[in-house]
Amino acid sequence: MAVVTVGNEDDVQEGQPFRVEVEGTPIAIFLAQGELYAIGDTCTHEEFSLADGEMVDDYTVECALHGARFDIRTGRALSLPATGTAGSYPVWVEDGVIKVEVEE
Ligand code: FES
Repeated sequence: MAVVTVGNEDDVQEGQPFRVEVEGTPIAIFLAQGELYAIGDTCTHEEFSLADGEMVDDYTVECALHGARFDIRTGRALSLPATGTAGSYPVWVEDGVIKVEVEE
């Protein structure tokens, strides 16, 4: 496991996901209802960035390419054309910075 700092707490806005690369893995960070969530950034349909998608409710991001929806709490695909999970990662704030834990 590796714990990596990916940004400052103040940089994150509700409804505005951002993409980071951690140990070669693209991850999308979300703030929803005051909580941080981190899921794999790669849409499991055709590998588009989920951080470029649009939030359709507090916990659902819609891929900008073909409209598949994912639960940002779990990374699970909620609608076609994606079916697989994008995966999720532990994320938290420590001393004002955002930390994500990934497998090495
Ligand atoms: S690439 Fe995301 S729905 Fe097709």
